[in-house]
Amino acid sequence: MSFRMFEEKDHAALYQQYRMTPPKEIKELILQYLDKKKGPPRELAVDLGCGTGQNTRLLSPHFQKVVGIDVSESQVEVAKTVPGFTNLSYRAGPAEELPFPDASVDLLTAASAAHWFDAEPFLKEATRVLKPRGCMALFGYLDTYDLHYGSCGDRLNTIYEEMKKSMLPYSSGRVSVSNSKLQELYEAISFPDKDRIEVIPVKEEVTVNNIVGLLKTHSTFQAYHRADPQGAANLIESTMARFLKEMGVTSTETKLEIRLEYFCVLACKPQ
Ligand SMILES: C[S@@+](CC[C@H](N)C(=O)[O-])C[C@H]1O[C@@H](n2cnc3c(N)ncnc32)[C@H](O)[C@@H]1O
Repeated sequence: MSFRMFEEKDHAALYQQYRMTPPKEIKELILQYLDKKKGPPRELAVDLGCGTGQNTRLLSPHFQKVVGIDVSESQVEVAKTVPGFTNLSYRAGPAEELPFPDASVDLLTAASAAHWFDAEPFLKEATRVLKPRGCMALFGYLDTYDLHYGSCGDRLNTIYEEMKKSMLPYSSGRVSVSNSKLQELYEAISFPDKDRIEVIPVKEEVTVNNIVGLLKTHSTFQAYHRADPQGAANLIESTMARFLKEMGVTSTETKLEIRLEYFCVLACKPQ
């Protein structure tokens, strides 16, 4: 059973605007792993749960062909509107049933998505489509953001934690699978050659508007929004106002630092 929590067109539009592009540290880690374990050629990479394609596009210069797959038609439709990537295509479909022949894929990635997959059929399918020595890289970041602006970072983090707490009834259990850094999924991978890097610290400079927009993309916020649109709108508005007040600024374009803790599961199919 696939989770259908990212279906609405508005949600996809928010994704396109506010989801963060994975950092270069992660991309380099994955490409170096693939080169070490499998080596050339880099023919086909497949990005699962691609959303609006932030990670898919990053892979484009490094492979002959890249395919983004997402179970949500809306996400795929928005991803397809980004021009300029001739070796890139998108398809709607589940990660548990992939439209590729056996032993045809060099690299499978999933950015902030593998916690939504059904582990057993997904891993069976990954094993089928990967080439011998082909690799998978499943990564994401914790939802405990660490915000910094002058001396008020702690208070901004408290505001964010309070926002999360007020939406707790709408949180899917799958969010805790991500926050476990995919531990069970990692353990379920049958390839002997595998690794889980638990802490990859990343700093980004973003605007207050970006942070609040990112919060709006969260599945928990979207579930709240479906149940109580006015309550969700009020929560976003008050969170934005509290951030600006603590920072002592009026412009939502004011920049602050966000520190994220990424994690990455890497695995290489046996020969
Ligand atoms: C949190 S979003 C991440 C999107 C994107 N990779 C990013 O980094 O912004 C998770 C995505 O996984 C997709 N998804 C969830 N379950 C899926 C499944 N079983 N197969 C394929 N995609 C799935 C959702 O539709 C959603 O677009």
